[in-house]
Amino acid sequence: MKEVSRKKVKDLLELQAGEDVLAKGWVRTKRGNKEIAFIALNDGSTIKNIQIVVDKNPETEAVLAKITTGACIAVRGKLVESVGSGQKVEIHAEQIEIYGTCDPMRYPLQKKDTSMEYLRTVAHMRPRTNTFGAVLRLRSQMAYAIHDYFHSKGFAYLNTPLITTADAEGAGQMFQVTTLDLNNVPKDKKGQVDYSKDFFGKQASLTVSGQLEGELGATALGEIYTFGPTFRAENSNTPRHLAEFWMIEPEMAFYDIKDNMDLAEDFIKYLVRYALDNCLDDITFLNDRYDNELIERLRGVVDTDFVRLEYTDGIAILEQAVKDGVKFEYPVYWGVDLQSEHERFLVEQHFRKPVILTGYPKDIKAFYMKQNEDGKTVRAMDVLFPKIGEIIGGSEREADLEKLEGRINELGMSRRSLEWYIDTRRFGSCPHSGFGLGFERLLLFITGMSNIRDVIPFPRTPKNAEF
Ligand code: 4AD
Ligand code: MG
Repeated sequence: MKEVSRKKVKDLLELQAGEDVLAKGWVRTKRGNKEIAFIALNDGSTIKNIQIVVDKNPETEAVLAKITTGACIAVRGKLVESVGSGQKVEIHAEQIEIYGTCDPMRYPLQKKDTSMEYLRTVAHMRPRTNTFGAVLRLRSQMAYAIHDYFHSKGFAYLNTPLITTADAEGAGQMFQVTTLDLNNVPKDKKGQVDYSKDFFGKQASLTVSGQLEGELGATALGEIYTFGPTFRAENSNTPRHLAEFWMIEPEMAFYDIKDNMDLAEDFIKYLVRYALDNCLDDITFLNDRYDNELIERLRGVVDTDFVRLEYTDGIAILEQAVKDGVKFEYPVYWGVDLQSEHERFLVEQHFRKPVILTGYPKDIKAFYMKQNEDGKTVRAMDVLFPKIGEIIGGSEREADLEKLEGRINELGMSRRSLEWYIDTRRFGSCPHSGFGLGFERLLLFITGMSNIRDVIPFPRTPKNAEF
């Protein structure tokens, strides 16, 4: 047989009939009749399978007997026009090599249970399903689009540390990093843990945000972004929280809160448009299988101006809704931290489009946000999305040294671990802003999946760190 190099299924499906080809992949299904067998082969390059047609004779029957769903094979043959497979072309097999058989009695991906809950228990195998293939391809495409967006705008990609000694959000939800022997912890004279004996000589944790170091970058390079894993030990078992998630944090010198909002809106629209333009096969699959309003929702975001609303006005709308008989699980009053039911009411019921909420009470936001003249609110901005609630959190930063120090003291935060950060305000302080986009929250929106555990390959949540 003529030597041909392997081509991916995605590319094979675009070729004209007549070529000799070599395909490699995993068997999705095998069916047939007395004369011929049909194998649907997938190699992960696309949601689509290529159909393999095998003429039955004693020799091929022996090979076919070993080919079951999940098996890995290589097929040489001729690309021919297809009549019934739904694709333009299929492969008429001339030679099949089996790389790995797949015992149907033990293969974890059976037709009988394909629930998302079950698939989480076999997360090492679920990338082989159509659904997770689509989700993981989309995840990869979105990561590329994010770098592409910032690169084209001249932002520098800054790598901020994962191990830190500062709690950026001041929410105390950090995972400790230590090499101390937990069965024999060294203590100081006061009976407290003696961290001077620990690896870093002080108490260290996994970071909850790259923002503080991001600000160091922005006040030197002008515009930076981070894109990396973040860790939060918040014990919330919700469909929107992970203990390990990825965050994109742009930080820009000379941006005020309005510039920040403009960038956030432009950024997220670019990403949704990119998905619609480049990943429509996978999105269409997810739309048809799980959520037939997905494509409409994505188009809706691209074509609409986001609402910009003061927190105080948002609370007024929610209070009016309560008067009109809307039932929320959590109470609504000025000063309250909004729950996702409130955010979703504003977005899905009231405005029917994404909302950027600003001017939050300072008591429910982090120490670094720029304080407004009223003494009560800060220049925070949360971008709220349909089905998700908060997808982005950000703010203009407090650039005034005294006000920043005042807030740190007021909150009783550890000054010592923040001196390096405060230096940005001591030496050439500048107005600046930034925000954080939760990568998995974005993917929830783009894929239409309803649980955040299903948009990351190997989720980490309370009591769950397998695979
Ligand atoms: O609102 P957050 O806590 O903001 C920050 O961390 C800032 N330092 C960002 C900045 O201004 N540079 O988190 C930002 C986003 C949220 O809007 C949400 O999308 C996501 O991160 N997020 C989570 N995603 C999954 N699981 C969790 N536990 C998350 N916590 C926050
Ligand atoms: Mg937030």
